[in-house]
Amino acid sequence: MNKLFVTKPLDQILSEAKAEGQHGLKRVLGPLNLIALGIGAVIGAGIFVITGSAAAQFTGPAVALSFVLAGIGCAFAGICYAELAAMIPISGSAYTYGYASMGEFVAWVIGWDLVLEYAFSAATVASGLSGNLVSLLQDMGIHLPPQWIETPGREVYFFQGRWELLTAIEPTIKAAGISADSLPHETAIFNVPAFLAVCVVSLILVIGVRESANFNVIAVFIKVATVIIFIVIAANFLWHNPQLAAENWHPYIPPNKGNFGEFGWSGIARGASSIFFAYIGFDAVSTAAQEARNPQRDMPIGLLGSLAICTVLYLAVGTILTGVIHYSRLNVAAPVALAIDATGVKWGSLLVKGGSIAGLSTVMLTTLMGQSRIFYTMSKDGLLPKWASVIHPRFKTPWISTLTVGLFIAIFAGLLPISVLGDLVSIGTLFAFIIVCFGVWILRKQRPDIHRPFKTPWVPVVPLAGVGISLFLMFSLPFDTWMRLIVWMAIGIVIYFGYSRRHSHVQQKAVASTEPQS
Ligand code: ALA
Repeated sequence: MNKLFVTKPLDQILSEAKAEGQHGLKRVLGPLNLIALGIGAVIGAGIFVITGSAAAQFTGPAVALSFVLAGIGCAFAGICYAELAAMIPISGSAYTYGYASMGEFVAWVIGWDLVLEYAFSAATVASGLSGNLVSLLQDMGIHLPPQWIETPGREVYFFQGRWELLTAIEPTIKAAGISADSLPHETAIFNVPAFLAVCVVSLILVIGVRESANFNVIAVFIKVATVIIFIVIAANFLWHNPQLAAENWHPYIPPNKGNFGEFGWSGIARGASSIFFAYIGFDAVSTAAQEARNPQRDMPIGLLGSLAICTVLYLAVGTILTGVIHYSRLNVAAPVALAIDATGVKWGSLLVKGGSIAGLSTVMLTTLMGQSRIFYTMSKDGLLPKWASVIHPRFKTPWISTLTVGLFIAIFAGLLPISVLGDLVSIGTLFAFIIVCFGVWILRKQRPDIHRPFKTPWVPVVPLAGVGISLFLMFSLPFDTWMRLIVWMAIGIVIYFGYSRRHSHVQQKAVASTEPQS
């Protein structure tokens, strides 16, 4: 039993990192680079897609309140990440923190759980990218076969020259007295654009995309510009149509429909757990701790600064989006694009759709890259087979794991709708946050001696606040999502006991050190 909780000594973690040259990384990143890194990983399908579905299904115009609630939870977890990232600056992120503080089994659980955060994020974002791409192509008069633009079983209808889901056109056709059955419609089989998007990004990752500061700065610039252009155009539209805004924003919190999460205050909680997805990725800043010029000062600035900027942008987008389009019509693949279309600014529409596609691609690159790093670290520890850390001789990337994970994730992206994928990612990430918050507290007790360049204030209050809000958001997610999490973790536990425990290098070392010397 004790073996399950064998920890990987921090000194060993740090010396291994040194041997691998990670400590050789140059300390070149300042606070602005770190904030850019955070924003680069954060702004994606959450704001461009999920805001719309959350407003339509759970919150109504009060989606901004959900953003505040989710943002507060992220801030507490972000502070905890800052302490661990500055103290254990290793690419394995929460997996490594768990190994050092709570032992191998928890580390395995967290590593397996992080697949939900990183790999399934990529699938979710691919689904969002598909929606925006299909919308953009339809603007240009290009119609992909409708059976291949959505996940299996979803009905797509041809209305006003475009293939759309019923949720997108229902209010309009109802108002016009048109029955959906009278429109040409098809049942979707597979989301091919989402599948291909993951395949292409995985191939790019194998060939090797460096996280060059320039590449990231351009990506961040495009995304932030896209969001700001949307805010300016749509705010200007609302300024000239105050009556429309007043109607759409009323009632600000639509009354609950009788079930938990369907509007009202419980809807705001449910909405927060859904749009929590939009904040995921800021922890990527923690992986750059070793490259920060002054981690003590800059880690919290990078983590919390990117969170603060995204929160402000998200509040503005959520508020304006629900002003331009009635929330009941926002459950579509490209809600921001729908809203910009409604303003009638044609170039704005093209720009926002193009910008979203570029922005979503970069999030996929970041998350899939994060995934391969985590598998790489786990494989190096012996918890996953060796092939997961095999480096391509020419491209110097973990090509087998990148391609395997890529194919697997591409299939999920083609099969599952964005709402299912997004909730799964959210529950997985919230679970990781809980372990990270506890990790701060445990390590403070176990290893008070270690130098901490940044210290979380008011331990254990801040970590416990992070745990509390994360748990609250987890419990606001639907039962089905919990079941998926449980099944996923059960598969992970089988793999741990079937393979990882017996191949773990830390376990083997522990056994060797207890065997009598001959
Ligand atoms: N936060 C990232 C997104 O919204 C994962 O796409």
